Amino acid sequence: MNIVMMGAPGAGKGTQADLMERRLRLPHVASGDLFRENIKNNTDLGKQVRAILDRGDLVPDSVTIGMIRQRMSQPDCAQGIILDGFPRTIQQAEALDTLFAERADRLNRVLYIKIDNDVLVGRLAGRWFCKICQTPYNVVSSPPKVAGVCDRDGGELIQRPDDRPETVAHRLRVYFDQTSPLIEHYRAKGLLSEINGEQGIEQVYGDIVQQIEGATQP
Ligand code: AP5
Ligand code: MG
Repeated sequence: MNIVMMGAPGAGKGTQADLMERRLRLPHVASGDLFRENIKNNTDLGKQVRAILDRGDLVPDSVTIGMIRQRMSQPDCAQGIILDGFPRTIQQAEALDTLFAERADRLNRVLYIKIDNDVLVGRLAGRWFCKICQTPYNVVSSPPKVAGVCDRDGGELIQRPDDRPETVAHRLRVYFDQTSPLIEHYRAKGLLSEINGEQGIEQVYGDIVQQIEGATQP
């Protein structure tokens, strides 16, 4: 099963992909997390993309596709994958088709988490992340048991530099200009499932499970 999670910044792609990873036993591959890991480790790729992420712009397609190609070639992706944040342009979507075709596979479903702009801004302002495992929290909707500490591994909770209000506004513009055309692209291919992202985390997850289990039935 190969799944793409789509939706605006703050829609809940990472939150839901984490839950699905455990249920489906498929790797959750998030392009943003891979970039942030490279930035943290100060790799060549990290140095190349740091300023781009801080501004909220998209990393060039060739760089992003190369990174995803490399990640998808790892053995844990052989049985399927949950992609989060990739593809984000038509060129990336076409490259993804090629990556699947090279292994005689295909994309099975695109889960589009739909949500209103005003809700997104509030969610991103309240988001905190575990410095170690990247688990997202939200001070309003899903706070950790102990303030500032990750429930899973006790890691320190931090905020993302690109969650500053002015950068969030820019990320939303970039999303509507460059990524939202993919919704119609995938709808036309019959792959798109729309999920109401304005419900609670558990309800959104319930709708996703229903969509996926419907899709896997003969
Ligand atoms: P990326 O990391 O992908 O960020 P994004 O798309 O902007 O999305 P977010 O991670 O901010 O939101 P999310 O949908 O995962 O929401 P979350 O689950 O955390 O990309 C970052 C940057 O990397 C880009 O700007 C770009 O520079 C670069 N990049 C990445 N991929 C690229 C690509 N393919 N090409 C080029 N450049 C690329 O939830 C948000 C908050 O809401 C959390 O606090 C959460 O707890 C809370 N929440 C979640 N669900 C709910 C709910 N149902 N109810 C209430 N609260 C909820
Ligand atoms: Mg995310």
